[in-house]
Amino acid sequence: MPFDMELESKLRPPELPMVPYPPKLVTLANGRHMVVREITRDEVPRVLEAVRPITTYERDYYDIVASRVYAELLAWYRWRIVNEFCLIAQIDGMLVGLVNSRMLNAKTGMSLHTLTTDRGLRIGSHMFAAKMEHHIEYLNQEEVLIVAESPIGFRRWMIEYGLEPTDIPHELGGAPSYRLSKELYYATKDRLVVGDRPVPPDILAQALDEIIVVDEKTVAEKICGVKGR
Ligand SMILES: CC(C)(COP(=O)(O)OP(=O)(O)OC[C@H]1O[C@@H](n2cnc3c(N)ncnc32)[C@H](O)[C@@H]1OP(=O)(O)O)[C@@H](O)C(=O)NCCC(=O)NCCS
Repeated sequence: MPFDMELESKLRPPELPMVPYPPKLVTLANGRHMVVREITRDEVPRVLEAVRPITTYERDYYDIVASRVYAELLAWYRWRIVNEFCLIAQIDGMLVGLVNSRMLNAKTGMSLHTLTTDRGLRIGSHMFAAKMEHHIEYLNQEEVLIVAESPIGFRRWMIEYGLEPTDIPHELGGAPSYRLSKELYYATKDRLVVGDRPVPPDILAQALDEIIVVDEKTVAEKICGVKGR
């Protein structure tokens, strides 16, 4: 059957314009350089290859977080979610973490997920900070609504940022949202948001050239900190 673009145009939700996130270079505690950059819709299938195997690990709530990320990125790729963006973290081209999020409207951001497969370097923390940076500084939003699905997430976001509890249901399951206001972002920025711009051209070119996906066995070892599950 031919693709019905007329019907498809009705199914695709209208989107607000979004400025791009400028890539940055984060120097990790071990001295390695990590590129944080926004992906395009066309890069989603490659990222899905990395997320798919993680959906089976119960440890530290990787299963629910990865399953939801998978569905949300696929929805973006297939034009079934409004105003989503995804930032990825790469070391020598290798994908080590990601965040995704979306604009609920011009003023409010709806934070979706943060995921890292390389543990112990605060990569997730740096990626969450980059997501907040994009919402507040580049998309020019007033606030971001956030929930945690794991105890590590709760420590990293609610406690480290001192997020404000609200009774606004979050779209991830309806739990009450916590709020990062623009004021709280700037009050915590010096402590939590790091990275340098511009990214040196050779390092950026390597990141853009290929998203290298780690094999499943290595990911299992990194996530679980042990060999196998
Ligand atoms: C939440 C998350 C993004 C935080 O990433 P991060 O800031 O890089 O932090 P890490 O995961 O490396 O470390 C978190 C804790 O686990 C410990 N840890 C480190 N390496 C570990 C390993 N190999 N296995 C298990 N735990 C490890 C760390 O010591 C750290 O403890 P701390 O909180 O006292 O510092 C990441 O843990 C993750 O992807 N978790 C699964 C998905 C998830 O929960 N997402 C957030 C939903 S709200």
